[in-house]
This record gives sequence, structure tokens and C-alpha cells, in this order.
Amino acid sequence: MSASVRFHDQHPKTCTLSQREELLAGLPGSPKSTSPKLFYDRRGSELFDRICLQPEYYLTRTEEDILATHAAEIAALVGENVTLLELGSGASRKIRLLLEALCPRCYLGIDISREFLLQSTQQLAEDYPGLQVHAIWADFCQPLRLPETIKGEQSVAFFPGSSIGNFAPEEALAFLRHVCGLLPGGSGLLIGVDLIKDSATLEAAYDDAAGVTAAFNLNLLHRLEREFDAKLDTGGFSHRALYNQEAARIEMHLVSQRDQGVTIDGEQFHFSCQETWHTESSYKYSVEGFQALAKEAGFSARRRWTDSNALFSVHYLERPG
Ligand code: TRP
Repeated sequence: MSASVRFHDQHPKTCTLSQREELLAGLPGSPKSTSPKLFYDRRGSELFDRICLQPEYYLTRTEEDILATHAAEIAALVGENVTLLELGSGASRKIRLLLEALCPRCYLGIDISREFLLQSTQQLAEDYPGLQVHAIWADFCQPLRLPETIKGEQSVAFFPGSSIGNFAPEEALAFLRHVCGLLPGGSGLLIGVDLIKDSATLEAAYDDAAGVTAAFNLNLLHRLEREFDAKLDTGGFSHRALYNQEAARIEMHLVSQRDQGVTIDGEQFHFSCQETWHTESSYKYSVEGFQALAKEAGFSARRRWTDSNALFSVHYLERPG
């Protein structure tokens, strides 16, 4: 018997011509770059799940530990019978941990991938009978509408995985403002944020020995071939992760191994030997730095937790009521 999920279609822009342009907008630039959204096709999402299991990638397990250790305290802060809103609907263990600790009345998953959203919300509805489950098919970076039934209800939004770090600081600020505006007064945002640390630990986390992150970065080239009819030599680039201390961010690059051309949609881009193609950044914060950003966005910083090695932080922010 299948449990029912209420589906809300908010028509996110999928692969239209304008999105294609947006994805490739930085390619004519110098240094060359593309949108990190390009990573997440089916194969990219599978590789990302494997990244989270690599021994060097401390983020996922450390965040899970923090949530598990402080689950009761988080539940007390959040209150009872709330609506739990997940930005990017998860098949991950983290959301189950929260569902069990908070016992919310209602769960609302928001994701841009329709197939993934339907699958993960359906599974949650089956596993948690009595939980009201909503699936919102939307791009959570764009203006969102919450279903009428939960408007004004005490809510907590969940944004794990240090995904906030994949926005540049000014975009992160705009995103936090947007989320704050969406939540009813007195509601909270539970958000995972990776911390600034030594560059060796950071660079290892984004260049694991098994080569999974490298495969993830290089998958972008295969995707360009498959979906964008690109003519390129997928073996002609290599993966590089480096910590830019000044900007407090890990940068992921594809480094051209020789002088070569890449053709996309009939347009040619030239790469000289060792020229880099910037594919993603992951910004790191200090606890104070992140709290300052959250306050600027309209939140008050209620509580935060870190692990004993100060690798990762989880913050509970509140929209003043
Ligand atoms: N939010 C994750 C992070 O910044 C995303 C991520 C992990 C990632 N590994 C990656 C993105 C490798 C691109 C490439 O850690």
C-alpha cells in the first residue's frame, strides 16, 4: 500500500536554452568557469553520494555526529508539532535522524529534481506513517510559495552538508535573506557549515585517494559530451583542488594538460597547457563569521554546535517573531 504525498508543481526552469546559457556563461571568461549545477546529472549525483563516504571527506559524518549528539537539545529548541522543511529533499540519514528526534507534524521536501523528489518523499511517507508529507518541485534558490496549509505554522528549515558554502558570500547572504523571509516569525533554520581549517585537511577532503572527487569533477566533461554535443578530449584534463586562504574557499579546477580546443554548440574555446577551468567553490567560515552573515540576513543566532576537533558547525538560527 503506498502512502500519499501531496505534490506541488512550481515549474522550475529545466533545461531550456536560457539555462544552457547560464550554465556555460563563464566559459568565454578568463579565468574560465561554469556553473556548479552542471555536476548533478544522474551519474554526478551517484558520485557525490560516494564522495560523502570517503575517509578524507569528514563533512558528512561529522555533521551527522553533531546532529545525533545534540538531537534532544535541537528538539527542545524547535518545539513540538512543527513543519520540517528540507531544502533539497534528502534520501540521507540526516533527515531521518531529525524526523525521529523532532516528531514533526508535517514534512515538506523541496527539490529541483522531480524524479528524486518523488522517490525520496514517497519513501519517507511509507516509513513514517502519520507524518503529513508534501513534495514541492521547485528551485529553492528562486522565489518560492509555501502551500496554504502550512503558512503561518511554526516551522524549521533544514539545509545540511555545508551547501551554503557553494554560494559566494554575497549570494549566501541573499539566499539566507530569502529563506528568512519565507519562514513565519519564530521559526528556525538548522544549517550545517564547514569551518576554516588547515589547507592539508581541506585539500585532502576534495581530492580523495580513491579518486572519487576527481571522477565527479571530470564527469562534467562527459556530461557536456552527452547532453551538449561538445567536442572535447575528456582525457585532456585533470582534477585539482586547492585552498585559497585569502578567499577562505576550496576551489575545484579542471587543468588542461596541453594546448587544446573545446567545441560546444559550434563555439570553440581555447585552453592553453596548464590553463584552469574553475568548476566549483566551497567557502569555509569561522563560527563568528557565519553568525555575522546570518544576522545581516535577519536571523538571530540562537545556538551552535561543533565537534570536538572543530571541523564542522551546525547552527540554529531563528527568525525573530
Ligand atoms: N557542499 C559540498 C561541499 O562543498 C559539495 C561538494 C562536496 C562538492 N564535494 C564536492 C562539490 C566536490 C563539488 C565537488 O563540500
